[in-house]
Amino acid sequence: MSTMVPEFVIQLMIVLAVLFLFAVGVAALVIVYMYVVDVTQTTHAIRRNFPVVGRFRYFFEHMGEFFRQYFFAMDREEMPFNREQRSYVYRAAKNVDTTVAFGSTRDLRPVGTVLFVNCPFPTLERDAEKTPPLEIGPYCETPFLAKSVFNISGMSFGAISVPAVTALSNGAAKAGCWYNTGEGGLSPYHLKGGCDIVFQIGTAKYGVRDDDASLSDDKLRTTAAHDQVRMFEIKLSQGAKPGKGGILPGAKVTPEIAGIRGIPVGEDSISPNRHPEVDNAAELLDFIGHVRAVTGKPVGFKAVIGAYGWLDGFFEEINRRGIESAPDFITIDSADGGTGAAPTSLMDYVGLPIWESLPMVVDRIVAHGLRDRIKIIASGKMITPADVAWALCIGADFCVSARGFMMSLGCIQALQCNKNTCPTGITTHDPKLQIGLDPTDKAERVAHYVLNLVHEVEVIAHSCGVPHPRLLKRYHARIVRPDGRSKQLSEIYPDPEPVSAAAQ
Ligand SMILES: Cc1cc2nc3c(=O)[nH]c(=O)nc-3n(C[C@H](O)[C@H](O)[C@H](O)COP(=O)(O)O)c2cc1C
Ligand code: SF4
Repeated sequence: MSTMVPEFVIQLMIVLAVLFLFAVGVAALVIVYMYVVDVTQTTHAIRRNFPVVGRFRYFFEHMGEFFRQYFFAMDREEMPFNREQRSYVYRAAKNVDTTVAFGSTRDLRPVGTVLFVNCPFPTLERDAEKTPPLEIGPYCETPFLAKSVFNISGMSFGAISVPAVTALSNGAAKAGCWYNTGEGGLSPYHLKGGCDIVFQIGTAKYGVRDDDASLSDDKLRTTAAHDQVRMFEIKLSQGAKPGKGGILPGAKVTPEIAGIRGIPVGEDSISPNRHPEVDNAAELLDFIGHVRAVTGKPVGFKAVIGAYGWLDGFFEEINRRGIESAPDFITIDSADGGTGAAPTSLMDYVGLPIWESLPMVVDRIVAHGLRDRIKIIASGKMITPADVAWALCIGADFCVSARGFMMSLGCIQALQCNKNTCPTGITTHDPKLQIGLDPTDKAERVAHYVLNLVHEVEVIAHSCGVPHPRLLKRYHARIVRPDGRSKQLSEIYPDPEPVSAAAQ
């Protein structure tokens, strides 16, 4: 029997062998080339000392950012948000079961762990109430009755994309929460869903500025004329970059974004590091009063707290002028807040975290007798029901989140928000990458996230024995201290002494 191999098979094998040798030859040449480049360059010590293989370090360093979260990091280990926190948001947003089996994986021993104090006689389900709405700005022409205790924090159109803004706007309308525009002005996409909007006046006053970048009262009036625009927030500072203005890289300044902001296309959009007209507490009150007089709507400010002595002078000045002059709300941002882009030195080292600043500001407002007048909005990693419940116990009236909502839109914490390459379409204006973000489906997720989170805050409140979350007090939560024992928040932060006549 003949064992001859057909001729075409032999020819195929020869071709494959030649191709293989060619590929090996090319690879060898590339390696030799890289070797020569590496040993002759003087910029990278690793590549000079370990030519060719040293290059893998940069590759793995880059890829590690993505792989760590899937393969190596433990559930409660990563920053800014660990897998446990992220998966809570994903589950709540998808409206799937948020219960877990067997037992908690949360270690209750680390210092700072928050424990809520359940009541031996929890609120009966028939007595449980939904979180009631709260009025902001009682002295305005048009006060705002805010329905939701959990709302969407400022993220400018520019930092985030058209489908992201559209999904947030629709989702906010479905859930009945407000949506803060961030400092990039008001776009048609914000208005699209019909939700309540907080218009943020950033230091560059995008959307409400004159040609010389000063505040335009006419544009302010036009903005306030939208019924959906319920409040105005003057941005003094943001946790991720206190003392620095917003930064939108030129790659993200599309013609549409440039048009809404009133700036050139393709150039970096950099806001001043403060409002030029606000240089002290009195000028801040003047500015608030001016915006309120022009718009007729509640006006407050957003700041990350660092130095805090000025707050006493500020509250005293309010009591001198009359409580109508007060900001209708103050948003306190945490030093570990998020951003589209910020220098690491500010992000990592400047400002106080919310667990220090929130009780400090609440106590000062109480001490000056302004607790009912000024509403307090807590911001910074408020992404789970426990975070929100803690803030309410301390004294916040509302919580807002930015990154929680990015996760509800599908953010995988790839940390490239400033590069226009966001793989989930949230922070990129590249249409190819935006395809993955379906605004209709994601609007549902945004709404589910709000409603499920608020429901679970209510569950915590009922377990603590109060009918709804607005009745949570400092004695409803404890914090684990360095000696391993927990202490009631009301003991750590006792009621402040009144410091002004108005408070007595
Ligand atoms: C992509 C992105 C854009 C943001 N843009 C703004 C902005 O325009 N104005 C602002 O005051 N804060 C902005 N922030 C900060 C958030 O509003 C919020 O204060 C901060 O991220 C803390 O909340 P979080 O921990 O829930 O993200 C931005 C944050 C992110 C992540
Ligand atoms: S997926 Fe990455 S780049 Fe996109 S929003 Fe989330 S962290 Fe930013």
